[in-house]
Amino acid sequence: MLTCSTPELLSLIAHRRSLKQSLLKPDPIPREQIEQMLEAANWAPNHGASEPWRFAVYAEDSRKALGETFARSYRLGVAKEKYNPQAEEEQRKRVWLAPVWIAIGMQPGGRHPEWEEVAAVGAAVYGAQLVAASLGLSAFWASGMPVTHPNTARFVGWEPPTKLLGFVYVGRPAVPWPKGARGDWRQKVVWHWGNP
Ligand SMILES: Cc1cc2nc3c(=O)[nH]c(=O)nc-3n(C[C@H](O)[C@H](O)[C@H](O)COP(=O)(O)O)c2cc1C
Repeated sequence: MLTCSTPELLSLIAHRRSLKQSLLKPDPIPREQIEQMLEAANWAPNHGASEPWRFAVYAEDSRKALGETFARSYRLGVAKEKYNPQAEEEQRKRVWLAPVWIAIGMQPGGRHPEWEEVAAVGAAVYGAQLVAASLGLSAFWASGMPVTHPNTARFVGWEPPTKLLGFVYVGRPAVPWPKGARGDWRQKVVWHWGNP
């Protein structure tokens, strides 16, 4: 039975937010809530039943090795003249700011163009983000260099053709739930509704 009305769903969609890790409480999140997010992700539309989304979840102490990995990836990926030890330390420490870090992977089915698989993974992540919002959680998709570096992908255990598309970090906001902003959708649509 469908228990969510269209106005309720639209309201949740507009309510969903991504908060920077510095605005989150580090407090743990029940594993069951992450499972609900991943179940939503698994219902995403996809071409030819490829179901290309892959996830690896890091919580509690497993984040230590993840932070070391981000730091090493930063060292490996940053241009020599731009290296900043403080930035490296930030990569090591950031994992403690959000209680759960979910690596986002795309495993192509091989029968359809890669962009379709990436689009399907995007849809999967969005489903997870909506469920997060319904639970009062923020889920931020980050894709900067250290979190997508091949060294990080190896740590997660994903070899080509599987691609690491970043991490979604999840946590409860430490600040009032922010209001989002979008341009008017009407400005982004051309209608062809009937004959000219
Ligand atoms: C695929 C993808 C990758 C992203 N990577 C980053 C990122 O590396 N850094 C960043 O500041 N925002 C990134 N964003 C944007 C944020 O995740 C977030 O969606 C954006 O700040 C809008 O906020 P909202 O989700 O609350 O509307 C990314 C978004 C997507 C969809």
